[in-house]
Amino acid sequence: MGLIAAETINELNSRLDAVAVVGDYVKLEKKSGRWWGRCPFHNEKTPSFTVDPERKTYYCFGCHEGGGVVNFVMEMDKLSFPEAVEILAKRFGVSVIRENTDGIINTSEIEKKKENLSVLYNRVAGSFSYILMETQEGAAALRYVRSRGFTDELIQRFRLGYAPQETFWLHKFLLGKGYSESFLAESGLFTKANPRKAFFSDRLIFPISGRQGQITAFGGRILNGDGPKYINSAESLIYKKRETLFAIDLAMAEIRNTKEVIVAEGYMDVMALHEAGIRNAVAPLGTAFTAEQARLLGRWAGRIKLLFDSDAAGRAAAAKAILTCRSVSIPAFVVAPESSADLKDPADILKEKGAGYLQQFVKKCILDFEYLLSENKRSLNNSDSNGKARAVSSLFPFLDLVDSEVERETYIRRIAEAFETGIQPVLNDYKVWHDGGSTTTPKNTEAIVQRSIRMNDELYLLNAVAVNCGANSSLFAKLRSAIPIEGFTDHNAKELYITLEECSRAGSMNFEAILNGIEDGALRQFVAENAATKAFSEKPEFIVADSIRRVQEERLTRKQNELVLRMRAAKSDGLSVDDLIHEKMFIDAELQNLKGVNK
Ligand code: GTP
Ligand code: MN
Repeated sequence: MGLIAAETINELNSRLDAVAVVGDYVKLEKKSGRWWGRCPFHNEKTPSFTVDPERKTYYCFGCHEGGGVVNFVMEMDKLSFPEAVEILAKRFGVSVIRENTDGIINTSEIEKKKENLSVLYNRVAGSFSYILMETQEGAAALRYVRSRGFTDELIQRFRLGYAPQETFWLHKFLLGKGYSESFLAESGLFTKANPRKAFFSDRLIFPISGRQGQITAFGGRILNGDGPKYINSAESLIYKKRETLFAIDLAMAEIRNTKEVIVAEGYMDVMALHEAGIRNAVAPLGTAFTAEQARLLGRWAGRIKLLFDSDAAGRAAAAKAILTCRSVSIPAFVVAPESSADLKDPADILKEKGAGYLQQFVKKCILDFEYLLSENKRSLNNSDSNGKARAVSSLFPFLDLVDSEVERETYIRRIAEAFETGIQPVLNDYKVWHDGGSTTTPKNTEAIVQRSIRMNDELYLLNAVAVNCGANSSLFAKLRSAIPIEGFTDHNAKELYITLEECSRAGSMNFEAILNGIEDGALRQFVAENAATKAFSEKPEFIVADSIRRVQEERLTRKQNELVLRMRAAKSDGLSVDDLIHEKMFIDAELQNLKGVNK
């Protein structure tokens, strides 16, 4: 499948006529600038299926199916990706270029290529590891990992490495080993813009492996300077990030033994857990924990324990991971810190309190439902009835994913009890909520999860960029130079940011690639739906500039509030507040500036 060259797919995308292709299967009518028809994926009387001729995508408002035209043809005619590309390429006069010259797809060739890639990645991992452990160049990076509390034994078990700052060394080195320019160019180890320039430079390297320990990709953590904290290899023949878990090879034996797995947020967290002897820990790659990953773990483990940061972003991610697990029928447990001393990530806990403490810490966990319930109760700070209704209804997506009626009934009782209301009112509200959803489709779990995504200014900005940057790639550059990823608090906004970053690095800034790059199914549908509505498409430059200002304003206001709190604390501790006052004046001025522009 990867054998069709990216140029071919881009060329096809620019030439194909989406309305003509889809029109062969669905009767389409033009209404207010877009094309409508009756959805071929579910039964309906009134059209809710739309085609977007500019983005070459389709989307159904009824059943939330959506994607690119190639995907559409694959779905309708039950074709593989290369087959669908072949057919469309012929129709629109695009010649299909394959990455190998003879133009024949056969599986043994794909297998050979996979094998070659695998050998390459393992060899390069060996070099990175050698540079980290044995050379002067890697010395600072090695000092850094050791300072995080990791022993050399563990560093080597995880095969950590260091990618040198010098960006042309790797290419020369591999040419010397007999690799061809063309093979290296498509290996994913070099940048798209310059196929001799190493993708990873001056970064700590975390090899990412398949279940048998064969390295398939790398994650790289920044050590100095500016840039994203982590970058990961792009997907390839041997690496599908939605189905891969960091450290699965090292954790498998213990997962089998204990029938339990701990899912942490980051690479460093997983390493800390293993260092403490908790060897059944893994992490997703990037942000969202996907249904594919949950399903995979569910085959081996009866219990999934989620161990996420206890800040707002981590708690939101935990809530979403719970729904993801339930959508594949796995109840999850959440490691919930009891005291504020534990409001740290595992790496900090290991360093400050030691292995024994961390072992005890991960033992304390509660069932997913109890976690959501206490989170919702916590967010309800006063007793206004509207707030109560909202808190109760935010548990409905979870109820929808519970398989057993009996179990659901138990939860409904618990909700009524916890919020001091009757069972019948909860049931009534739930029914109204449930029926208000997509009634035409059978249970579409992603649509249910999607309804739990709420729009906010940050997400609005990222949607506006994602939906329009196929036509205008400078939008992402504008966003990136205005606000770094750390400037966002919403985890969906962060995930979109990362996806855009990856597409931009891979040189594939088109809407289809962006959609495919979003790991989380619910978020993918959310973005597809927003692309299908007109709200984001008119004057995108204006929307983006305006949203950037809004998010910046929110960010500065947050900082301002934080500073006020710190000043109060400092005053009551009898400390000097001069520095804080200075900082606050600076932020006040920046905010004033922003508001000035606004007028
Ligand atoms: P430390 O901050 O050094 O403890 O590392 P960490 O691995 O704990 O990172 P953090 O808690 O900030 O983030 C958790 C995970 O999110 C990371 O391990 C990465 O997989 C992912 N992540 C964080 N920042 C980025 C980013 O800028 N880009 C991408 N692609 N992924 C990121
Ligand atoms: Mn961390």
